[in-house]
Amino acid sequence: MNFIAFAIVMMIVVFLTWRFASRRQSLPCPVWLRWMVELDNPFTKTNRAEVIVGLLDLQPGMMVLDVGCGPGRLAVPLGKAVAPTGEVVAMDIQPGMLARARAKAQAAGVDNIRFMEAGAGEGKAGYGQFDRVLMVTVLGEIPDREGALAEVYNALKPGGLLSVTEVIFDPHFQRRSTLTAMAEHSGLRSKAFYGHALAYTQHFEKPAVSCVSDNPEGPQE
Ligand SMILES: C[S@@+](CC[C@H](N)C(=O)[O-])C[C@H]1O[C@@H](n2cnc3c(N)ncnc32)[C@H](O)[C@@H]1O
Repeated sequence: MNFIAFAIVMMIVVFLTWRFASRRQSLPCPVWLRWMVELDNPFTKTNRAEVIVGLLDLQPGMMVLDVGCGPGRLAVPLGKAVAPTGEVVAMDIQPGMLARARAKAQAAGVDNIRFMEAGAGEGKAGYGQFDRVLMVTVLGEIPDREGALAEVYNALKPGGLLSVTEVIFDPHFQRRSTLTAMAEHSGLRSKAFYGHALAYTQHFEKPAVSCVSDNPEGPQE
């Protein structure tokens, strides 16, 4: 019993230390902790892959960008949902995460995912290409959040949706008010909210009338 109490206290200490450290400097979730990302959290339904994907009204043929795809927890079901003619671009800065996502897609027989090693905000997502963009427990890890949201705005088609999921168990948790202010500043409009203050998914829409010009080159590898 004493050991269990000690383990719980240690976990809380590690969590709080990580949370504090990540406020001073954006630290990506380490690759060796990817197993934890892959677990569907038993304490919150909001962050389950099937719930997030189920809210997106996906159709075959759609183009989807999964920003900070990690080990592919969402990219694989997204690929299935838009097959056979649609495509998912799975973006992450860590090659180790992309390698795991690629292996998972292969094992599941999903071949419509393109893997892109890039950081959100670097401008590699292209212009007016995507029907849906997902940012699931990733925004707080990105050093230039406003730059990343501006890139998402450009990458979405007019009328396209950005889906952001945040859960309090993530050391990089972003409050709804902070997220809404940043997203609306980038030109997106709040569209729907699911969950509650501590575990939520919020959808934002790119207004149908947009002044973004299409880039014929599309997203870059
Ligand atoms: C907590 S994991 C979430 C993974 C996945 N979205 C999920 O929910 O299963 C966050 C991921 O974001 C990635 N990441 C961190 N900063 C990033 C950035 N600037 N651009 C793209 N990905 C980033 C990390 O490498 C990590 O794989």
